[in-house]
Amino acid sequence: MKAAKSILAAMVVVVLVGVVGAEELSVMRLPAPQTEGGKPLMQALRLRATARAFAPEALPAQTLANLLWAAWGVNRADSGKRTAPSARNWQEVDVYVALPSGVFLYDAAANALKPVVAGDLRALTGGQDFVKDAPVTLVFVADTARMKGAHADDQKALAWADAAFISENVYLFCASEGLATGVRAMLDRDALAKAIKLAPTQMVVFAQSVGFPKKQE
Ligand SMILES: Cc1cc2nc3c(=O)[nH]c(=O)nc-3n(C[C@H](O)[C@H](O)[C@H](O)COP(=O)(O)O)c2cc1C
Repeated sequence: MKAAKSILAAMVVVVLVGVVGAEELSVMRLPAPQTEGGKPLMQALRLRATARAFAPEALPAQTLANLLWAAWGVNRADSGKRTAPSARNWQEVDVYVALPSGVFLYDAAANALKPVVAGDLRALTGGQDFVKDAPVTLVFVADTARMKGAHADDQKALAWADAAFISENVYLFCASEGLATGVRAMLDRDALAKAIKLAPTQMVVFAQSVGFPKKQE
């Protein structure tokens, strides 16, 4: 009886910690992105490459803000259009940001990260070993509900194309800033979708890690 009570008490603590943990995350306002400078385009193209090793240090908030703006920020305030193209301007891709503290949703218009789920889910963003080390992993999620008029056969291909443009923006930003990055399609989409509480119309397309290059040992 006593043992059963202790187990019950432990379960209550675990549940409470889980709930408190989720509530602890708050909206992260990002610094205004710096949209000047960087390496000349041809130099960035020369440096673009996939990395599979990352130093564990966090990115400064300014770098994260610049990265997200380069990836999928609003570059024409009058129309709300973005740094990457999207088929029929559906803007169906959302960028989720997996950090050690939790997963957030990039709100480009507000230049903020909205909490999605607390806890370190970075290891869920891919099957390869280095995945857990990168301080930031972007997850590109397409919401097919926004793809009005798309033929069902085209939806997936267009969502993948639109996410790939965002991914290339990330590659070029990282090449310009001396950061390491790598996109991946190799991931358990169902497990990740469940963990970040996606709706049935949403699908995980790619994940892309970003961090400082790992120093040679
Ligand atoms: C759609 C797509 C999916 C990819 N998936 C993975 C992946 O799951 N894991 C990985 O390590 N690299 C992945 N890559 C990176 C490629 O392996 C890499 O781009 C390729 O080897 C060429 O190297 P580079 O990017 O340095 O030119 C992916 C690239 C693309 C475009």
